[in-house]
Amino acid sequence: MRKDLLGLEGMNEGEITEILDLATVMKHKLEDGNLKLNLASNVSVVNLFYENSTRTRTSFENAAKFLGANCVNVAVAQSSVAKGESLLDTAWTLNAIKNNIIVIRHSNSGAPHFLAKNTQAHVINAGDGMHEHPTQALLDMFTMREQFKNLKGLEVAIIGDIKFSRVARSNIIGLRTMGAKVRVFAPTTLLPMGIDKMNVKVCKSVEEALKGSDVVMGLRIQLERQTGGLLPSVGEYFNEYGISMERLKLAKPNAIVMHPGPVNRGVELAGDVVDCNQSKILTQVNNGLMVRMAVIKLMSEL
Ligand code: CP
Repeated sequence: MRKDLLGLEGMNEGEITEILDLATVMKHKLEDGNLKLNLASNVSVVNLFYENSTRTRTSFENAAKFLGANCVNVAVAQSSVAKGESLLDTAWTLNAIKNNIIVIRHSNSGAPHFLAKNTQAHVINAGDGMHEHPTQALLDMFTMREQFKNLKGLEVAIIGDIKFSRVARSNIIGLRTMGAKVRVFAPTTLLPMGIDKMNVKVCKSVEEALKGSDVVMGLRIQLERQTGGLLPSVGEYFNEYGISMERLKLAKPNAIVMHPGPVNRGVELAGDVVDCNQSKILTQVNNGLMVRMAVIKLMSEL
């Protein structure tokens, strides 16, 4: 484990496997029913979220507490950030009161990297703009590995807003590093420039993307990052790009459905797809806890 977890770019197979393997150990420990493990009582984690979150923030908090670490949450809107305090001054302040792991979510790509360079605290990127969301991709790969035992050769279809999705970017990088095959499908306006250099297959229809896939990952339309005019309408989106039970039959019979959440039911995925037996959406949320425990535990050993 390095000082900071900023992204999957540059991480090798061994580094990713170390986190996934420890997450498996954590899962077994929690399955014993013991939620007070006392494995990282030497660290204090601060959640500094400049953007909304349900899953990531609460699972980092539970992960820290289950490990016996301290954990505090900064309510950014009620903090001195509202009085104009800079990001760096905020981080130095939090570090001065003995928070040695800063978990940051920020709308600016690169904000966690800036903090990592300028503070002694360990920095974990909980999502920076359109750039990366490494712990989401790690929990996604953990969920796939749990289902299929091995990521090598797995056919993963990622469908939706690829351009604005830090989840897509981290997953593509991580899955390619681990030997999976990735295919993507999106409206051409929601494909990032340079997608041809990301070692993925760009499909021409949702049917092509789904056919023979092991994993079907839907992505949320990130209306908050779009300036408008990129989609005909949310209603029309489902007809062209949405995943219905009928379309899901094109994937392999044992394929799993994933989505990082929050889901817009009836937009990216039909409601019955979200709730079907193949859906692993809540398993992903659960696995996020173990993956974040593994990351905090490894940082506590540095
Ligand atoms: N997947 C994800 O990052 O969810 P939250 O925004 O709820 O943290």
